Amino acid sequence: FQLLRSGSASRASLLRRGYSSGAVPERKVAVLGAAGGIGQPLSLLMKLNPLVSKLALYDIAGTPGVAADVSHINTRSEIAGYAGEDQLGQALEGSDVVIIPAGVPRKPGMTRDDLFNINAGIVKSLCTAIAKYCPNALVNMISNPVNSTVPIAAEVFKKAGTYDEKKLFGVTTLDVVRAKTFYAGKAKVPVEEVNVPVVGGHAGITILPLFSQATPKANLPDEDIKALTKRTQDGGTEVVEAKAGKGSATLSMAYAGALFADACLKGLNGVPDVVECSFVQSSITELPFFASKVKLGKNGVDEVFGLGPLSDYEKQGLESLIPELKASIEKGIKFANQS
Ligand code: NAI
Repeated sequence: FQLLRSGSASRASLLRRGYSSGAVPERKVAVLGAAGGIGQPLSLLMKLNPLVSKLALYDIAGTPGVAADVSHINTRSEIAGYAGEDQLGQALEGSDVVIIPAGVPRKPGMTRDDLFNINAGIVKSLCTAIAKYCPNALVNMISNPVNSTVPIAAEVFKKAGTYDEKKLFGVTTLDVVRAKTFYAGKAKVPVEEVNVPVVGGHAGITILPLFSQATPKANLPDEDIKALTKRTQDGGTEVVEAKAGKGSATLSMAYAGALFADACLKGLNGVPDVVECSFVQSSITELPFFASKVKLGKNGVDEVFGLGPLSDYEKQGLESLIPELKASIEKGIKFANQS
């Protein structure tokens, strides 16, 4: 009897497991720029994500090797590597989420805007292909300057007649990851419990962490809040300088990119209350794109949340970031429509 009972119990648990893995929908994710500093660890992390059933790794070169390497990991997704423009269509076809870390990173002394000329062209051509091969995919834009590359993508999609503002995201998750880490250190609270919204854009002063809304509450003095804000805004530069010419944040960015893509997949799969900050089309300020908390759903953006109550310091920060962010957005739109 005992044997029978345990036998049927384990059969039931097998059935349950069988049912639950069968219930996870098939999802294809494409990583464009997969052989790069961000692309490789990001591909690894996406291979570990059980929500992914197909993973397409695309770059101009080097992806067969990355794909062969990652493909030996015994997790759910099937992997394929695609190299060179003639394989881009195949890489994109059927994708539910496309993550774009393609382009050049910063070197010491460069701002994100210095990357504009090269990365704007790369993003434009990749988005032209997305419009053709997977117009319904959610696009996670990592390539900098995000403040301009997201508007470029929007313009490309509009021209192609495929633009859906619910499906285009600038990935600002690394700013949130940094704000959480730095706040936990200063406030001496467990980092895994920390929440901090980061709004605005993704460059210098356009990055506005809202420490007045941080939880757990810590009532830090004003000078600490100022120092934390500055460190979050300059987090990328801290890494660029420490790497001394060998690129910008790659490992923490891969983590942040994987976190955001996971949130997108959960939203697509109907998991309720998935909320992340992201740079999206927005009407919460006078600017056409703005980062704030966003609820992710079955069609991408479900709801763009407002900023909530701001401290006087944050109100000032908001006022001073608007002109810079506006100029970066306009620069992107102009580039997309000129060339
Ligand atoms: P990387 O130079 O190591 O890798 C970039 C990869 O893109 C290379 O493998 C390159 O072959 C590939 N690539 C170039 N043109 C391409 C094209 N037309 N199609 C497909 N792939 C192409 O650079 P890294 O460090 O991986 O950075 C990538 C981008 O991510 C940069 O623009 C960087 O500024 C940005 N970034 C964004 C962050 C964010 O928080 N959103 C944080 C850190 C970096």
